Amino acid sequence: MIRIFSFLLLMSFISCKKKEIEKNKFYEDLALQRSEILLENIGKKYYEKNCVNCHAGKDVKDNFLENSVRNQKRSERFFIDFITKQDSLLKNGNKEALALKDWSNQNAYSHNFVFNDREVKAILYYLKK
Ligand code: HEC
Repeated sequence: MIRIFSFLLLMSFISCKKKEIEKNKFYEDLALQRSEILLENIGKKYYEKNCVNCHAGKDVKDNFLENSVRNQKRSERFFIDFITKQDSLLKNGNKEALALKDWSNQNAYSHNFVFNDREVKAILYYLKK
């Protein structure tokens, strides 16, 4: 009798634990979802304030910036450096940055935004989304 009882007790303990794990997973997913939405919104805000005038809206067809971010040929590090210190990339003869200048017919504009890595990553995240 005691055996059966303790067995049942053990089973109910295990099933409680399992529920608890499922509940934690639910809250973890929710938190992740919220932080992704937050990241996207921050990126959107920064993009619309600083980039949209030249680069057009994200949903405009053939947005070359969006395409470039999406196709992942360039590294995230390059994007961060390009956006925050294009001047110094050009001065140091960075091939990728020089090629981009050729591509734009030596457009005089230079990207030297005062953003930290996380802010640029939010913009990239928004563009990729
Ligand atoms: C005054 C116009 C202007 C603004 C504002 C501007 N850009 Fe650009 N962007 C350009 C031009 C022109 C190029 C082409 C390359 C060059 O000439 O430097 C370019 C190229 C780029 C590229 C390289 C794209 C590729 O093909 O890989 C990235 C990345 C980029 N811009 C990001 C941004 C971001 C992010 C912002 C806003 C925070 C921004 N730009 C704001 C004009 C602008």
